[in-house]
Amino acid sequence: MKVLVTGGAGYIGSVVVEQLLKHGHAAVVFDNLSKGHAAAIAPEAVFVQGDLCDRELLTRVLAEQQIEAVIHMAASSLVGESVKQPHLYFENNLVAGVTLLGAMLETGVKKLVFSSTAAVYGAPETMPITEDAPLAPTNPYGESKLAFERLLRWYDEAYSLRYVSLRYFNAAGASERCGEDHAPETHLIPNVLRVAAGKDEYVNVFGENYPTPDGTCIRDYIHVIDLADAHVLALHVLDKRSEIYNLGYGSGYSVAEVVEMARQVTGNWISTEAAPRRAGDPPVLIASPDKIMRDLGWNPRHSELDQIIASAWRWHQAHPNGYEK
Ligand code: UFG
Repeated sequence: MKVLVTGGAGYIGSVVVEQLLKHGHAAVVFDNLSKGHAAAIAPEAVFVQGDLCDRELLTRVLAEQQIEAVIHMAASSLVGESVKQPHLYFENNLVAGVTLLGAMLETGVKKLVFSSTAAVYGAPETMPITEDAPLAPTNPYGESKLAFERLLRWYDEAYSLRYVSLRYFNAAGASERCGEDHAPETHLIPNVLRVAAGKDEYVNVFGENYPTPDGTCIRDYIHVIDLADAHVLALHVLDKRSEIYNLGYGSGYSVAEVVEMARQVTGNWISTEAAPRRAGDPPVLIASPDKIMRDLGWNPRHSELDQIIASAWRWHQAHPNGYEK
């Protein structure tokens, strides 16, 4: 299949492109490089630098490249930032997404894989979280993704635009070529590894009095390659129906456990500093991945936390200053 990947120069997008190519698909990356890196794009992919608000360009690329499906990953995705600047999240994740859907309808492209998030569930009481759990985002990021998911249902009903919405839990780790390079970095594992590498003195632990066994937040960290594989599987559903799937492993680790595991993997001491809770953070997020395993035969191969951290550590050591700018 020939697939347009919006956000294909980003952390997760670049690995999705790698996996698409590996499975014999063709990829066209559409990215404005506001967060992504040209060096992250697989050389075999076609690259178009453009913004999702540019409907004319989108329409032209979809038509000229004879795109059959879109994987829509371009988005703003930081929980903390979304609480402070909600407008960015509704503009980039909702308005720009609607523009993309308009260009797809205009060119007759009716297959979409959408990057959604565990943040649509808010702070559920019951773990692991199944797809039919109540939807109650606790931050504008989750709200913007949920709003887009909801409108997809109506595009399906009215225009037969088929979609698979993948609700990611916490993407982590690296492939051999692609890793996490954000500026500034806000995610836990790369921040912990910055301390292990001697770039930072300590890592902040945002909240130590959550209702969890050690008081720190628990997340379901999923290796970016397993996450990317699910997108390739999702493409095959789009001939038949629309679906929503969680993407996580069904097991969670606390911030303190991640720090401890990183000490073991790197062999370096990692200092921590207690810091106030970060606005919008739910205490525990753990996926039930049963539905995607059952329906699509998704079979994660990198689910050990030490492997995830080790892959990120290898990438950061090979790219001490991130991607070449
Ligand atoms: N944390 C720290 N110190 C840090 C960074 C993070 O204590 O320096 C904590 C956070 O407070 C949180 C946990 O580590 O409790 C994980 O934080 P991340 O920033 O790594 O990830 P988030 O859970 O905030 O968010 C990520 C993605 C979102 C996605 C979400 C789904 O960034 O896009 O996972 O669970 F929605």
